[in-house]
Amino acid sequence: MKNTVVVIGSLWGDEGKGKITNFLSGQADMVVRYAGGDNAGHTIVLNGETYKLHLVPSGVFNPDVKNVLANGMVINPRNLLAEIKDLKVRGVLCENLYIGERAQVIFDSHLILDDLHEQALGKNKIGTTKKGIGPAYEDKVSRKGIRMIDFISADFKTIYQEFVERHNKEISELGGEPVDFKVSYAEYSKIAQELKPHIVDSVTLINDAITDGDKIVLEGAQGALLDVDFGTYPFVTSSNPSIGGACIGSGIPATKLNEVIGVSKAYGTRVGAGAFPTEMFDDLGNQIRERGHEYGTTTKRPRRIGWFDAVALNYSIMINGFTGIALMLLDVLTGIPTLKIATSYNLDGKTIHTLPAQNELCLRCKPNYIELPGWKEDITKCRTFASLPKNAQDYVKTIEECTGVPVVFVSVGPDHDATIVRKELFK
Ligand code: GDP
Ligand code: IMO
Ligand code: MG
Repeated sequence: MKNTVVVIGSLWGDEGKGKITNFLSGQADMVVRYAGGDNAGHTIVLNGETYKLHLVPSGVFNPDVKNVLANGMVINPRNLLAEIKDLKVRGVLCENLYIGERAQVIFDSHLILDDLHEQALGKNKIGTTKKGIGPAYEDKVSRKGIRMIDFISADFKTIYQEFVERHNKEISELGGEPVDFKVSYAEYSKIAQELKPHIVDSVTLINDAITDGDKIVLEGAQGALLDVDFGTYPFVTSSNPSIGGACIGSGIPATKLNEVIGVSKAYGTRVGAGAFPTEMFDDLGNQIRERGHEYGTTTKRPRRIGWFDAVALNYSIMINGFTGIALMLLDVLTGIPTLKIATSYNLDGKTIHTLPAQNELCLRCKPNYIELPGWKEDITKCRTFASLPKNAQDYVKTIEECTGVPVVFVSVGPDHDATIVRKELFK
């Protein structure tokens, strides 16, 4: 019996993790977000309604599924409350939400520092979401962060005063506007009380669920190529979206993880700066952006568009050990006469099969493509693999051949139901 499925963004984020997580949550008892914060924007289209979740896990719509914001996350408590309130207005009660007491809290000063750090980088800026993610993880690693358990403790006032003084010093040095401790404390202490009923020992909650044989979906945020260790450094986020982060960020031992699903679009996208070898600069790229509504869920920035990159995906497969691929947005490619898949790169005259560690080298990589014929038929109503046009089937099969990993889901529309299931995972 397979009880734990990890859903991981295989490339640079926005692959459709929210849709797949929500889809799998229909068979699960628990959904766990293990990394990142509200830099994430996960879209779910359910019964004609569109939801954009940033912190709340994508299984929240089913009251019988426990949804856990686990210890690996960095959580902006004001934004979390706002997200919960918005969901409640829409009839999603959120009584099934659990927040790990070991998760880090993001405060206003983290957002101010994120902005100031980006300004200081000038033309070398990362293009962060300005949600305070980097500064919050910096505080965590330098052992100066405030965790949820501290946030709701009787000592919060003293801890927060020292914290604000330290941040204000740096903010002033960088020419920013310092935080007013009194005003800020008054607001955050109220927020802490509102969130308190949700704050639990998530490590025990999750591991007890595993002992009980519950089915669990771990919902990744961002993508493996934004991983601070394995991504296109320094143009990455500050956490580990890849498989190692799933263990660290949830407290689930590696030996208890069963299926690991790499979510990938049928083409490539990236937001923010950094190398993107298969990026398209022509009109076809613009057409795909419009057809796929490729604008950031969190920042509304236009996403950069590229051809399917099997080199980058194979690198991600090596790190994550995907047992299956969820291939998303296949419908967006309908009507394109010739489709391209990058199978190797040319770097300064040499053929290579992996992503170099340096961004400058990645920028010099010229993809070598294979070409495949496209299809014209509308595929958004297809619900079986056999009902896809032959050329669409061949496109999917070619991806399997290039990667050696089975495509277990094919997504043909944003809606929950627009999904072709080729393998049941909880079996
Ligand atoms: P996430 O961050 O990985 O959850 O992905 P996002 O929600 O940021 O971006 C994925 C976008 O693609 C959203 O707008 C989804 O509604 C949409 N989407 C997901 N699957 C499909 C699909 O198969 N076809 C189309 N056309 N859109 C999809
Ligand atoms: P989901 O979960 C796409 C990118 C930012 C920037 C870099 C660092 O929706 O896939 P950060 O604010 O994390 O310090 O920004 O990472 N980024 C994402 N890109 N999808 C995301 O999340 C992202 N979260 C961060 O654009 O390049
Ligand atoms: Mg997203």
